[in-house]
Amino acid sequence: MTEIERAASAEFDRWAEAGRGESMERGHAGVVEPVLDRWNLNDHSVLVDVGCGNGWAVRRALERGAGRCLGVDLSAAFIEEARGAGLGEFHVASGSALPLADGVATHVLSVESLYYYPDPQAALAEWRRIAAPRCELGVIIELFAENRGSAVWAEVLDIHAWLWSEVRWAEVARAAGWSRVRTERILQPGPLKSEAEFTVSAYWPSYQHYLDYRSAGALAILGVRGDTP
Ligand SMILES: C[S@@+](CC[C@H](N)C(=O)[O-])C[C@H]1O[C@@H](n2cnc3c(N)ncnc32)[C@H](O)[C@@H]1O
Repeated sequence: MTEIERAASAEFDRWAEAGRGESMERGHAGVVEPVLDRWNLNDHSVLVDVGCGNGWAVRRALERGAGRCLGVDLSAAFIEEARGAGLGEFHVASGSALPLADGVATHVLSVESLYYYPDPQAALAEWRRIAAPRCELGVIIELFAENRGSAVWAEVLDIHAWLWSEVRWAEVARAAGWSRVRTERILQPGPLKSEAEFTVSAYWPSYQHYLDYRSAGALAILGVRGDTP
């Protein structure tokens, strides 16, 4: 394990112990569901969620009819919580060295995770290794350079995070061997908080940051495993 991964594993064990899994589900589901909607998961689908946290997206994919769903995460505490929910298969492992066979996945999902990895391109290449032909890739991140509301997170997080542009993320996915790579913005559903409902914190230094975050949306990096890298 690299130094960056060791720090991430310890930090996310703390997040799990502080009960942050459920709030991440509430915060992220609205920008992940539109991707799951498009995938039309069925009995033959094998979905792998890399950096799965407490495994909520694995459970939602199973509820949508996916035949097999696996989650992988560096944090042993999050994986223990995921296993405790009783649905899906979970592994404690680096997202850059998956304990999975070549070509096993029909869908690779990753939510708010890839910018923590020591080498995101190497991780994306590893995900292509486990991808079956025509496997769909869906990487969803809210921390990217064009999102002026969230960019401050890269400074206040206690661990390393890459703050890259939308174009760079797409280039890295292509360089890792994914085909038909494109990016989209997905807006959080639901009403905006009013300024009176908003609380200032290190992550949200002003109401304007929150408004900028909501208008930028989440970045989805989408691709497919073609026949050739
Ligand atoms: C912000 S949380 C998101 C969790 C989950 N995807 C969700 O939406 O609730 C980021 C997750 O990525 C995991 N992670 C960070 N670096 C990782 C790595 N190199 N390999 C695997 N998982 C990693 C963390 O342990 C953590 O669970």
